[in-house]
Amino acid sequence: MKKILITGGAGYIGSHTAVELVNAGFEPIIIDNFSNSEKSTLSGLEQILAKKIKCYEEDCNDKSAVEQIFKENQLEGVIHFAAYKAVGESTQVPLNYYKNNIDSLLVILECMAKYGVKDLVFSSSCTVYGQPDVLPVTESTPRKEAESPYGNTKKICEDILHDYVKSKAGVRIISLRYFNPVGAHPSSALGELPLGTPNNLVPFITQTAAGIREKLTVFGDDYDTADGSCVRDYIHVMDLADAHVKSLEYLSRQKDDFYDIFNVGTGNGNTVLEVVHTFEKVSGKSLNYIIGPRRPGDVVKVWADTSKINTVLGWKAQYSLEDSLRDSWNWQLKLGEKV
Ligand SMILES: NC(=O)c1ccc[n+]([C@@H]2O[C@H](COP(=O)([O-])OP(=O)(O)OC[C@H]3O[C@@H](n4cnc5c(N)ncnc54)[C@H](O)[C@@H]3O)[C@@H](O)[C@H]2O)c1
Repeated sequence: MKKILITGGAGYIGSHTAVELVNAGFEPIIIDNFSNSEKSTLSGLEQILAKKIKCYEEDCNDKSAVEQIFKENQLEGVIHFAAYKAVGESTQVPLNYYKNNIDSLLVILECMAKYGVKDLVFSSSCTVYGQPDVLPVTESTPRKEAESPYGNTKKICEDILHDYVKSKAGVRIISLRYFNPVGAHPSSALGELPLGTPNNLVPFITQTAAGIREKLTVFGDDYDTADGSCVRDYIHVMDLADAHVKSLEYLSRQKDDFYDIFNVGTGNGNTVLEVVHTFEKVSGKSLNYIIGPRRPGDVVKVWADTSKINTVLGWKAQYSLEDSLRDSWNWQLKLGEKV
């Protein structure tokens, strides 16, 4: 079985990707420092897969620890999820974000070079598009100046990867630009575990419905959209996980010095209010929400043109918004049982 190192594999997207890797016949090996995740995720993985996944509790910036992992395991590839991801926090402590998100990528690339590992899938983000002039966005839509240090780390990492491939280092790399990941494993054994107040809409909705938050604020209903609230492309985390498997399989068929970028979204935009009402429908709960003022820095609308990933990788989103919100809600109910 091909061993794949997944950095940040105890996190939200990494853990779901570990499941899909096993289902596709790979052996995932996790490195995570648990700065934004909990050990209980490993039990969730074990419950779904009926076996333990090897996990190293280490920091990706600790080069000697990462080297040791490369030395101990004959790796075929790496998926680099590990990063800090809170946009607001990144404006408060930008250096932490530049250090963690960029240094960790450099450590991974150096170790890949030393141990002859060619294939890398990198977690990028639709945040690199900013507020695009034309929608939907394709991979060749020009990137805008980043709205936050977090967004800038993704742009810089993409540039590092592109430069590195151009240097004929013999690697094969894909950057996946995720749109808005939502949902949970349908078994409810894995899901998103935001530590503290959630930064993303869906965990905020489910926590409000569960009575953990008093109310949800929708930031603005006077934008130029169908109902005035912002538009995003919500992608089920299991679909996103599958995109990583398809990327690794595709990379293994490419020649050396390969780099490409793919959008990973559904190709549909939904407004915040549509998400709220769809959640109410699938959960049967009425949500306590208010309309607040616009939030500075919010992109008004963005959704993906997915034709490239559909045709080149043969990947297409399978889950609907209803599926995503149902799975998120079931996961929230499961978390409630544990309290
Ligand atoms: N969730 C989103 O909305 C979203 C959208 C676009 C891109 N992304 C990117 O996808 C990746 C995964 O996101 P996620 O939502 O699963 O986040 P997450 O916080 O749930 O997972 C990241 C994991 O990485 C770990 N980690 C962070 N720094 C580390 C380090 N130096 N060494 C070892 N482990 C470290 C954390 O403990 C966590 O388990 C990130 O790179 C993120 O920027 C996420």
